[in-house]
Amino acid sequence: MSVNLSGRSLLKLLDYSTEEIEYLLGLARELKALKRAGTPHRYLSGKNVVLLFQKDSTRTRCAFEVGAMDLGMGVTYLGPSGSQMGKKESIEDTARVLGRMYDGIEFRGYLQSDVEELAAKSGVPVWNGLTDDWHPTQMLADIMTVQESFDYDIKGRTLVFMGDAENNVARSLMVVCAKLGVNFIACGPRACWPASDVVDACMPIAAANGCEITLTEDPFEAVRGADVVYTDVWVSMGEPDEVWEKRIQLLTPYRVTEELMELTAPDSIFLHCLPSFHDTNTTIGADIAARFGVTEMEVEDAVFEGPRSRVMDEAENRMHTIKAVMYATLK
Ligand code: CP
Ligand code: NVA
Repeated sequence: MSVNLSGRSLLKLLDYSTEEIEYLLGLARELKALKRAGTPHRYLSGKNVVLLFQKDSTRTRCAFEVGAMDLGMGVTYLGPSGSQMGKKESIEDTARVLGRMYDGIEFRGYLQSDVEELAAKSGVPVWNGLTDDWHPTQMLADIMTVQESFDYDIKGRTLVFMGDAENNVARSLMVVCAKLGVNFIACGPRACWPASDVVDACMPIAAANGCEITLTEDPFEAVRGADVVYTDVWVSMGEPDEVWEKRIQLLTPYRVTEELMELTAPDSIFLHCLPSFHDTNTTIGADIAARFGVTEMEVEDAVFEGPRSRVMDEAENRMHTIKAVMYATLK
């Protein structure tokens, strides 16, 4: 079956079929090879994209900017305080204005309904660069890294998400694993399990693709024989500072440690979407250490820096996969 994503938005991966996700991953692999070989690929020369960020970013912003420039496009960045959106201008009016000037719009913000409204009203492809609910472009980089680590043989492997398993990244991982036939284990305290509507949506998809979804509170059981262990920050952007204390209490047993990694498959890998609190070399990390005496949060520094860690490959792959999304939807 031939896949054509021209004109499509990417708002969440539940909207994409297995074939469409595999197509984007294949395209990202080709674009990465071109980039590595130094072969120009300015396929979208003359087009322009705008990047709207209500929340901060390093990887997503840079991936969209470099990806767009490599494809020959012009790029405008509008940061959390740089536009009229939300304050003096509605999402709908912003969408209609930007749709007259740009060929595509990236949005990172709080509400999933905002990115959906941008897509509905702008008339151009809109890409979700993270909302409170979903982080779809991250998933493509994550799976690309898993593919590269296991020689493109990923069906039937097991990925464990450890920690705040109800956040945007964990929910998105559940979807992409279900779509690609990868067993997904969400491991954390019951209070942080993914919402039942997401689990209910993913269960039949997983069954159709021959894999399983499991929720557990037992970190030692979860990681036994696992191929991929993944974690994310314990408090996501937009959550109030007050939740730190409770999360540290709840999630400390789910820190990814060397002890846990020893129970995984011999060739297992560690992934993290980043940014990560694996030491105290950040303002927040140092503040948490001073307030709660915790010097490593979701992952031990030894795992983050250790031989199983693929986090920098994963970060690089953000660019190749986001470039694939822009190319496939704008060509
Ligand atoms: N992983 C990720 O989305 O990173 P940024 O917040 O730096 O974009
Ligand atoms: N769950 C994190 C992901 C950051 C890339 C957040 O939303 O802050």
